[in-house]
Amino acid sequence: MYFEQPGVENTEETLKCTIDRLKEDESLNDVVLASTTGTTALKLIDMINNSGINRKINVVAVTYHQGFSDEDVNPMTEETENELKSNGAKVVRATHALSGVERGISKKFGGYGPVEIIAETLRTFGQGLKVAYEVTVMAADSGYISTKKDIIALGGSSKGSDCAIIIKPANMNNFFEISLKEIICKPKNKKKTI
Ligand SMILES: Cc1cc2nc3c(=O)[nH]c(=O)nc-3n(C[C@H](O)[C@H](O)[C@H](O)COP(=O)(O)O)c2cc1C
Repeated sequence: MYFEQPGVENTEETLKCTIDRLKEDESLNDVVLASTTGTTALKLIDMINNSGINRKINVVAVTYHQGFSDEDVNPMTEETENELKSNGAKVVRATHALSGVERGISKKFGGYGPVEIIAETLRTFGQGLKVAYEVTVMAADSGYISTKKDIIALGGSSKGSDCAIIIKPANMNNFFEISLKEIICKPKNKKKTI
């Protein structure tokens, strides 16, 4: 499925495509998604619960690390985090795999290091695809998914989801072992054209 434009308006359809793929392939049991505030993760859980899928799906919601946007601030409230956990989801709040301390270096001294260049290269496929790679690594490093099993990973453009992929995960220290298996959906255009 290809969306014309990137953005939050594709969230519903991206989640629907994810559910359809979970129904088609019972070997897929893990969904890792970027969800800054938890809104998209709660939507996904609700849709899984109403989908008729009766095997357990491991949902891993990855949020921003504390202070990413504003010093000492977490964009996911404690209440939302608890709601996600009480619905059986895992929550990851950790250093961003594709910026990390390199962001601190480039902010202070300018230029780009190799990690931020990897991120920018992945963004040529769209913001959401870059994010799907990043949250996959973060979920693997948190121990919430295995690197031996393919998973579905979701990312978006600032808010919501607009890209879903099937990916073989890898840990940060084996980053280049990661393997993109299938694009379930993504926007055709990197930037809004209208
Ligand atoms: C670790 C992490 C990195 C992200 N990086 C980007 C990014 O580089 N570009 C972008 O447009 N959105 C980025 N996002 C936003 C996500 O793609 C997604 O749209 C958002 O987390 C959904 O949050 P919501 O459920 O609060 O709407 C990132 C989110 C997380 C958690």
